[in-house]
Amino acid sequence: MVVGAGLVGLSTAVLAARAGAHVAVLEARRIGDGTTGNSTAKLSLLQGTQLSRIRRRQSAATAARYVEANREGQQWLLRYCEEHDVATQQCAAVTYAQTPNAVDSVRAEYDACREAGLDVEWVDKLDVPFVNYGGARLHDQAQVDPRSVLSALCADALDRGVHIFENTRVVGLTGLASGHVMFGERCLDTERGPFRADTVVLATGTPIFDRGIYFVRLHPQRSYSVAFEVPGEIPRDMYISADAPTRSLRYAPGPTGDTLIVGGNGHTVGRQDHTIARYDDLVTWTREHFPGARETHRWSAQDYVPIDALPHVGPLLPGYDRVLVATGFAKWGMTNAVAAALALSGRMFGGKMRWASALESWAPRELTGLPEGAKINTEVGLAMVGGWLRAALGGDGDLPAEGEGRVNRRGVRPVGVSTVDGVTTSVSAVCPHLYGILSWNDAERSWDCPLHGSRFSHDGKVLEGPATCPLDIYDRTETAAAERSSIS
Ligand SMILES: Cc1cc2nc3c(=O)[nH]c(=O)nc-3n(C[C@H](O)[C@H](O)[C@H](O)COP(=O)(O)OP(=O)(O)OC[C@H]3O[C@@H](n4cnc5c(N)ncnc54)[C@H](O)[C@@H]3O)c2cc1C
Ligand code: FES
Repeated sequence: MVVGAGLVGLSTAVLAARAGAHVAVLEARRIGDGTTGNSTAKLSLLQGTQLSRIRRRQSAATAARYVEANREGQQWLLRYCEEHDVATQQCAAVTYAQTPNAVDSVRAEYDACREAGLDVEWVDKLDVPFVNYGGARLHDQAQVDPRSVLSALCADALDRGVHIFENTRVVGLTGLASGHVMFGERCLDTERGPFRADTVVLATGTPIFDRGIYFVRLHPQRSYSVAFEVPGEIPRDMYISADAPTRSLRYAPGPTGDTLIVGGNGHTVGRQDHTIARYDDLVTWTREHFPGARETHRWSAQDYVPIDALPHVGPLLPGYDRVLVATGFAKWGMTNAVAAALALSGRMFGGKMRWASALESWAPRELTGLPEGAKINTEVGLAMVGGWLRAALGGDGDLPAEGEGRVNRRGVRPVGVSTVDGVTTSVSAVCPHLYGILSWNDAERSWDCPLHGSRFSHDGKVLEGPATCPLDIYDRTETAAAERSSIS
């Protein structure tokens, strides 16, 4: 049984069905609603400054195995796209410095790549219309439309007899033993009833079950993307800056011409006021460097950054292979997710990938992430205390204007009040995962948790993150009526 129909889930399902297994996929929302469907989808082995980040914590051999895993994921996906008529574009990947201060970190990435056998070149000045101080460039990488990949995988899975259930959120798991092998089946509780399985693959972005404490081993990061029609030339390489605020660029071919996609401005989920400003900043930057650029679409998504810089792929709990996870791709999951699916299917059907040790879910190398883990979990603690203090000091508050939301207090209860499409809704502002106080995301009109990244719609439905339960709804009022009653 696979939980989650993103790139990990669907590629694992296809591989398992190919191996002769009976497979079902349970997806909480619709296929493509998760991170994969909203990814920039560069299929690259030069991944921003990821390899130097790994290298600061891990040995050269581990970094080389990480590259090998990603190369295998990349090659598998490119072959798959070719066989299933999904268009990909071959192009170079570039990590560049926006300021002189970032040149050293780009150099470190260049060195880490060369050490791991990647044939990167150094470019002193990029031929692009935005300021740069040079970069590292790796030729022969690729990009793809992630939704086309998911569609192809879904059709292939269905053809192979995989059952896919959309709008089926998993909310619980029984039959999980810790530490030692347990016989019998696992039972997944869903909103549509129980499903029984021999083996469960949790491909849910961050794992939805707390056993394994992945929520303290990962850091949820949200980023913004805007697509533009541009009158002039769009650079053909895929770019990402080494320094903040991140600028990530690629082109996307379409029936009426190419589109420019600009992304970046990431932050920890739930810890940013006025997220709309993050989009506006990307629009301003793009119009400055690509005069006449006209915005066509905007969207945001999140991914999970592991404390030791390497993905976690393997058993949810040490030594127990009946419940497996794949997470921690740090915004480089298009190749890592496929590598994860290959590693998991190897684990389930026999055979081990040479490079799999670099992605293991439980390994002593994670100790190298302890300082980072201490830092992010101190910040989580501060976010928890700050949220409850602000809620305690909050009052009844005014009605929020259209598109706005705020945390008020009713007695001792923190209540999230928002107005969306003329309806004011009050929900519990306490995250059902581990009781963080939610904050309003005005760009997405959602309630986001600053602790581990759970997100909820304005009317309390779970969108993503480790939480599986919705928020309690206290009341819903049409705003016009509410305004009249508050005046009288
Ligand atoms: C802004 C952004 C840009 C990115 N760009 C790139 C890039 O250029 N190159 C690259 O390599 N990587 C990129 N990434 C990272 C990459 O897209 C992700 O790492 C990858 O798509 C993750 O795939 P996944 O299958 O783990 O997660 P998802 O695609 O999120 O799939 C998880 C699925 O599980 C479902 N689910 C969750 N909870 C439940 C539940 N309780 N029950 C049932 N189903 C559930 C979700 O609805 C979702 O569909 C980017 C990430 C972001 C945020
Ligand atoms: S996501 Fe963990 S407390 Fe909200």
